[in-house]
Formats: sequence, structure tokens, C-alpha cells
Amino acid sequence: MSRLFRIAIDGPAASGKSTTAKLLAKKLGFGYIDSGAMYRAVTLKCLEQGVQVTNDAKVKQTANSAQIRFPSLGKVELDGQDVSDAIRTSRIVQNISPIASNPGVRATLANQQRALARANDPAWRGFLFKQSTQVRGVVMDGRDIGTVILPDAELKVFIVADARVRAQRRFDELASKNALGEGETVDAIAKDLAARDEADRTRAVSPLKKAEDAVELDTSDKTIDEQVAAIEQMVYDRL
Ligand code: CDP
Repeated sequence: MSRLFRIAIDGPAASGKSTTAKLLAKKLGFGYIDSGAMYRAVTLKCLEQGVQVTNDAKVKQTANSAQIRFPSLGKVELDGQDVSDAIRTSRIVQNISPIASNPGVRATLANQQRALARANDPAWRGFLFKQSTQVRGVVMDGRDIGTVILPDAELKVFIVADARVRAQRRFDELASKNALGEGETVDAIAKDLAARDEADRTRAVSPLKKAEDAVELDTSDKTIDEQVAAIEQMVYDRL
């Protein structure tokens, strides 16, 4: 027997979704799709091509022409180039909100995200449950995965964490990659996160919202391993 199991992980900025989703996918042998990376890649392409992020028509065109791929766990390719690090800078997130609220961009990326979740890539070997059922599937993280992209996902998790904890985590992450902007502080990051969350929550199309049937997981006092283990347990409980 074989079963398909899709996990939707949503939540505010820097709540630990991506790290958790990636480790969870690795543990379960599932695919991992980072939907935020796709919005980041479109933003990078606009900045590189000098497209005004508020020019909706041009931005939509740019999104339509962007070839975004996930060649391996955690790697992102834009038009054949590895952009895994280039999409993680503060400059990207400072320009991303108008792009993420552009309905044309969302429609294009939503189609791609649903197609990726159906792809059932052979690399997603899954795991054997109770020695009889092969469970294969995908973990996708973002803002609207449980509400709009995969409304019938087998498991939906909404990750939250204190604003201060999130800002500190993002600061540490950027510092460890030497990607902190000049004079960038935890306070400045906290402000950026709050502005982005507000934009994500209040936009007209696919706002950040907990799906009614999502499980809320507060990670403020949890380690990454504890977060991953908690969701892993939810998967087993649902099988
Ligand atoms: O890692 P972090 O939480 O900072 O960001 P991300 O998950 O990479 O997402 C970056 C931005 O892309 C978010 O602030 C949203 O504006 C947008 N996004 C979205 O609108 N919908 C998604 N499904 C994923 C990301």
C-alpha cells in the first residue's frame, strides 16, 4: 500500500518554518517546497532587471518569465543560476511585499506550487509505516499553503513565536552567513519583520491566516529538534 501525505506549514516571518520544514522533509524522506523562496526569487529578478516592484504589470511579466527550480533540498535556482544565498538578503525582504501582494504573481506561483506538490518526484522516497504502507509526500511552507494552495493537505501546522525571539533568530541566521547589512541590529530586524507581517496579514489576496483546521505550534521556547519532533508526531498520529 502507498499513501500520499502533504504537510502545509504556515506562519509569520522568521518563525522557523523553513528550517523546520526542511529538516522534517529530510527525516520523512519527503519533498520540500519553499514557497517563500519563489517570491524571493521573483523579487531578485525584478531588482536585477531594474523593474519597479510597484509596477504590477511589469512585475507580473517578470514572474511569468522566471524559471524557478529546487534542484536539491534547500537549493534554489532562478533561470539556471543558483540563487540560494542571493535571495536571503535584507534587500530582498525590504522589496518583497508589493510583489507578494501582486495577484498576477500569486496566480503564477500558485499554479507552479500546486504542480510541484503533485509531481511526486522519485527522490521523495518517503518512509515505511507499520511495515506495510509506504508513505510519500511533500512539506510546503509559506503563508497561504493551508488556506489556498493545499486546502486539503493531510496536515496543516501554523507556527508562531514571540516577535523578539523571531528577530533574534533572524539576526543570528544572517550573522552566521555574514549577510548582515551595514549597522543592522536586532531592533531594525524586528521592525522589518513587523512591517512584513502586517503587509502579509492585511493584503487582499491570500493573506497570512491560520487555516481553521491547522494546529498552532508556538516555537518561542522550543529548539529546532523539538519543533521537528512535534510535527513528526502529528504525522504519525494522523496515519
Ligand atoms: O523566512 P521568512 O519567513 O522571512 O520569509 P519567507 O517565508 O521566505 O517569505 C518571504 C515573503 O514572501 C513573505 O514575507 C511574504 O510576503 C511572501 N510569501 C507569500 O506571500 N506567500 C507565501 N506562500 C510565501 C511567502
